[in-house]
Amino acid sequence: MYRLILPGFRLRFYGLFAVSIVVALLEVIGVASVLPLVAIVIDPETLAHSRMAGGLLALVGIHQPLPPVYVIGVVVIALLVLANLTSLFLNWWSVHFANQLGIAVSEHVGEGLFCRPFTFFMAHPAAELANQMCSEVSRVTVGGVLQFCLLISRIFSLAVILALLLVIAPLFTALFFAVTAAIYVLIYRLSTHRISTAGKTAHESNNTAMHRATEMFGLAREVLLRGEGAYLIGRVRDALASYYRADELSRIYQMAPKYLLEVTAVAALLASPIYHSYVGDDVRSKLPFLATFAYAGFRMLPMVQQIYSSVSLLRYYEPAARHLADVLHTQSDTTATRSRLDRMPVQLEFRNVDYAYIGSAGPALSRVSFGLARGARVALVGASGAGKSTLVDLMLGLLTPTAGAILVDGVPRATALAWEVGAVGYVPQTPLVLNDSIARNIAFGYGTGEIDRQRCAEAARAAGIYDLIAAQKAGLDTVIGTDALSFSGGERQRLAIARALYAKPSLLVLDEPGSALDPPTSRKIFELLCGSTIDATVLVITHDVEHLQLFDRIVYLDRGRIVAVGTYDELATKLAEFRAFVGDSPKSERRA
Ligand SMILES: Nc1ncnc2c1ncn2[C@@H]1O[C@H](COP(=O)(O)OP(=O)(O)OP(=O)(O)O)[C@@H](O)[C@H]1O
Ligand SMILES: [Mg+2]
Repeated sequence: MYRLILPGFRLRFYGLFAVSIVVALLEVIGVASVLPLVAIVIDPETLAHSRMAGGLLALVGIHQPLPPVYVIGVVVIALLVLANLTSLFLNWWSVHFANQLGIAVSEHVGEGLFCRPFTFFMAHPAAELANQMCSEVSRVTVGGVLQFCLLISRIFSLAVILALLLVIAPLFTALFFAVTAAIYVLIYRLSTHRISTAGKTAHESNNTAMHRATEMFGLAREVLLRGEGAYLIGRVRDALASYYRADELSRIYQMAPKYLLEVTAVAALLASPIYHSYVGDDVRSKLPFLATFAYAGFRMLPMVQQIYSSVSLLRYYEPAARHLADVLHTQSDTTATRSRLDRMPVQLEFRNVDYAYIGSAGPALSRVSFGLARGARVALVGASGAGKSTLVDLMLGLLTPTAGAILVDGVPRATALAWEVGAVGYVPQTPLVLNDSIARNIAFGYGTGEIDRQRCAEAARAAGIYDLIAAQKAGLDTVIGTDALSFSGGERQRLAIARALYAKPSLLVLDEPGSALDPPTSRKIFELLCGSTIDATVLVITHDVEHLQLFDRIVYLDRGRIVAVGTYDELATKLAEFRAFVGDSPKSERRA
């Protein structure tokens, strides 16, 4: 848990301790002052001769001869008010601290996650990671770190009050404390394993529920059409049920000792006067002592209970906290330290490159060799599942070859391939649009002051989306998704192309840019990509066989292997397989 307290927050964390010590001292003075007050009210004379009461009064700054009773009363009440106000402040400050820490931890978790390689993101659904960054962090900081602060301050308060009570009545206090501690230790022993398991289950099922809910709402269209809502909601409900069961269990274990202890405390308090009246002692003289104990108990019992529930909560949140702390301490050694290419080299070459996805039976790519020259327009074609996207991910440095070498200008790279930010532009198969202004969607990742609106407009014009933007009242400032503007699949694709063009990358990679476009728009986009307007090397995965002739070279992949590389005419003459690939298409017949 301590690992989650970021360095910038450590000083404040110690500040909290300092305040909690002040609160603890005030608590003690509050407890200490009750004894003389009650004694004076009952019998001012006898108390004036009591050394212990005199000492306690001196502790709160009152000396003999005693001031009038009402003055002492006011002082005692003022002290109580001060103690409670400080305690209130401490509670507020702890919550504020935990919340501020939560914000910072979320941000760092986001950064920590992005230090992981791309394969990590392939293995973890986006919803799960989003859940970790948002709700898990808040669960752990408010639930865990806050408990940590409260725990330490409460242990201190309790220790001071106990010390005071030990001075007043050593035997009674020791006995009382021993019984209390025994009850808690016993219950803790019995429940600790279950609380830990519950914490683990809660962490996992919370993630699962979030993942399933995101999947379900992402499928809204299908759900509405096919009425599979009940099944999908049921999946989320099952995960939530497991989460709430775990939560319930941990709460029960937290609360249980409280009730047992209350009974013990009341019995202990009553036992003393009953015993004294039984043996014929003067019970009246014991009243100040009993009042102090009753008040101390009233203050202490919740404290003991809170200590116990903090300890159980810490156990409960530990699995989630451990996980987040690991994410926070992820070093970006794999991506940050290796040398990055700031621009497309004259020649980028793959030599006998293999790639196998973790856990999959066979390799997705085997013995792939081909070269990409600066400024070339290359199309990557092949059947679905042939390995085109995998090859592109290797080219982008998102995946690292399992075997083989990547050569930059003829020199094999000692480290995995990596690009400087902005050196490559990428348009994915299914582009995502942010719920933000069009300008921000195009100038993706740039700060507000850095957005060049002229360049946004140029990129939009090149991608064939400028007319749509110009037709909006707010133009580039139109917010997608909320300002009554929702992009169609093809419009999203063109927006993604504009985004890739805006950064003026030296290598531009597109995964099926024409798939959601109508033939004229598609043609325009391909002409743009293969023309001289774009000053970049262009690599395009495409199934649009009618545009293939625009490319300098075509790389033809089949089941993870490169079958042939050449111009359209070369491949069409040499390769019957390629002729079948393009010729079977009704589109290409139209072209012919
Ligand atoms: N994350 C993954 N884990 C395991 N196997 C994968 C993963 N992604 C892809 N594959 C497998 O690797 C092979 C190549 O996939 P890839 O996505 O590169 O094909 P593709 O040529 O881009 O296909 P498409 O045209 O359908 O996009 C396929 O057999 C696929 O099942
Ligand atoms: Mg693909």
